[in-house]
Amino acid sequence: MSDDGSKATDGRATDAPAGSGAVTASIEALFSEDRTFPPPEDFVARANVNDRSLHDEAAADVLAFWARQADALDWVRRWDSVLEWNLPFAQWFVGGSLNVSYNCVDRHVLAGRGDKVAFYWEGEPGDARTITYGELLDEVQRFANVLKGLGVTRGDRVCIYMPMVPEVVVAMLACTRIGAAHSVVFGGFSAGALRDRINDADAKVLVTADAGWRRGKPSPLKPNADVALADCPSVSGVVVVDRCGTDPDMVEGRDWWWHDLVPAADPACEPEAMGSEDLLYLLYTSGTTAKPKGIMHTTGGYLTQVAYTHKFVFDLHPDDDVYWCAADVGWVTGHSYIVYGPLANGATSVLYEGTPDHPARDRWWSIVQRYGVTILYCAPTAIRTFMKWGTQEPEKHDLSSLRLLGSVGEPINPEAWMWYALHIGGARCPIVDTWWQTETGGIMISPLPGLTTTKPGSATHPLPGISAEVVDDDGNVVEVGGGYLTISQPWPSMLRGIYGDPDRYAETYWSRFPGRYFAGDGAKLDEDGYLWLLGRVDDVMNVSGHRVSTTEVESALVDHPTVAEAAVVGANDETTGQAIIAYVTLKGGQEPSDERGEDLRRHVATRIGPIARPKTLVFTDDLPKTRSGKIMRRLLRDVAEGRVLGDTTTLADPAVVEEIARRAAAAPAEG
Ligand code: WTA
Repeated sequence: MSDDGSKATDGRATDAPAGSGAVTASIEALFSEDRTFPPPEDFVARANVNDRSLHDEAAADVLAFWARQADALDWVRRWDSVLEWNLPFAQWFVGGSLNVSYNCVDRHVLAGRGDKVAFYWEGEPGDARTITYGELLDEVQRFANVLKGLGVTRGDRVCIYMPMVPEVVVAMLACTRIGAAHSVVFGGFSAGALRDRINDADAKVLVTADAGWRRGKPSPLKPNADVALADCPSVSGVVVVDRCGTDPDMVEGRDWWWHDLVPAADPACEPEAMGSEDLLYLLYTSGTTAKPKGIMHTTGGYLTQVAYTHKFVFDLHPDDDVYWCAADVGWVTGHSYIVYGPLANGATSVLYEGTPDHPARDRWWSIVQRYGVTILYCAPTAIRTFMKWGTQEPEKHDLSSLRLLGSVGEPINPEAWMWYALHIGGARCPIVDTWWQTETGGIMISPLPGLTTTKPGSATHPLPGISAEVVDDDGNVVEVGGGYLTISQPWPSMLRGIYGDPDRYAETYWSRFPGRYFAGDGAKLDEDGYLWLLGRVDDVMNVSGHRVSTTEVESALVDHPTVAEAAVVGANDETTGQAIIAYVTLKGGQEPSDERGEDLRRHVATRIGPIARPKTLVFTDDLPKTRSGKIMRRLLRDVAEGRVLGDTTTLADPAVVEEIARRAAAAPAEG
């Protein structure tokens, strides 16, 4: 640890203002002697958790523990049994019924907090809106009635493809109010990706916007939706928010403006009492095959765990805190920790539409100062980008309101952790490094900030109620050392399956280690029992905290008429965690060129979305294969990361990989 620590100190000294001795001193002040970071005393004094009682309760009787967390919600009917576990199928709070929008909005208004701010929303151009719980309730009910008017009923699916505007939250909550499941598709996905997701979910209605603001320009959504909808027979109605005034085509009888329908809608809509196990939403995520998986989350258990984790991991004091989760609502982090967790807890949040560098690289820090943000939750890739931009950006603003920082989406390297702690947290804020997944629904492994002594780069320990274990290749539990991260007991917000494919669910998550959920991540346990997440061990890449499947990119490439074969790997990247490197063999008669490479990169971005665009594309006459014809990705990763080549003896033709290494060194990469 101390090596990483001192490296971070040295690295920072270069961009620190005069008197970097002070910087070094503050870093030292962060740590106890063994370079661990105990929670600051004043933080502990008023923390929601500052002793082991939650751990003790969970250890004594885990089901009673979860029942107590569920009791923090308002139930229409209390459950008959906490858990029915028929491995790998779990049902939580069976027999109970509740409504999610009621828990997220109505109950706060009924308790007299209608004037409390739910969201401080800021658009990228600088326009802003403050939305109280009372206003949210009004809009949610109206939009719920709009959905009903478009024929949506309990049990239907609604697709949401939107920028980060308040209407996206309204649309999600309106679905839950009438018992329809939503499927939010990240606004950065292409028409093709949107089409596949709409069709897999058989969605009846699409909610979208003309465009969203990105780096000062409208980034179109409705035109993509129109391309997708040409092949989506299930969609009969489309509601469009006019965000950028780009005047998109509107199909008569199918497409409706939000601003025409919502003000005219009936302002009262009774919440449906939903079964605890009714489908709440689908969220598609990349797996190891080309077809994205529709991860299913249900109602009672999901809301219980996201509210519980949001309250304790972020030490939420709803009357004082201004909380900002800077994720996009199109990913699970946005679902659980922009929408459902914070609203269930009656929090005040910030919602920001745009990019961190518009109009300048201090945009985030101006937002923190303007709204007095106390809790900030973001991804390591953002932190590393800010490191690159330099400390002068955060130093332009008063960040003293911050008291807690969070990290999610990928392993945080100790250097980034230290920079975050010092230059954003002012050596004052604990950091919660939270490990979880789309599939887990809520945070699973994380410090409790008033209790846990942290180590930079370690997500520390499973939360009370969660049983995470590291196992070796044979499934034996590892006490100290490396292996695979598994979850050995069901948890309330666990995925209930893959939409339409129960066999794939069992096969993907429960077959590698019998009786255990296997997350796909490597992990190690150190001598002090701290967990260190080591990244994915399967063919899933993590690019800027976004999951991208190697197979999905490969199939997009081979779908191009000039491509014969493609292999894709994720290589370590300083800023984005991993970068996508593609090796491509063209069909006979096709000539490699920079233009062809650019064309193929663009093709992938069009097929999947800009996040899947390869950073480097290497043309090769052949791919390294075993004699049985399997592509050896390990070698391609070695090449991509410039390592001495691993064992090539099993290759059918060892000369191939040397030629690839030569070409890879010469290939142009995007910055
Ligand atoms: C990775 C995002 C290390 C991990 C919530 C996981 C992390 C994948 C962390 C899930 C963390 C997430 N430390 N790795 N704190 N958090 N990951 O589904 O590889 O988009 O399997 O969910 O992100 O990504 P997903």
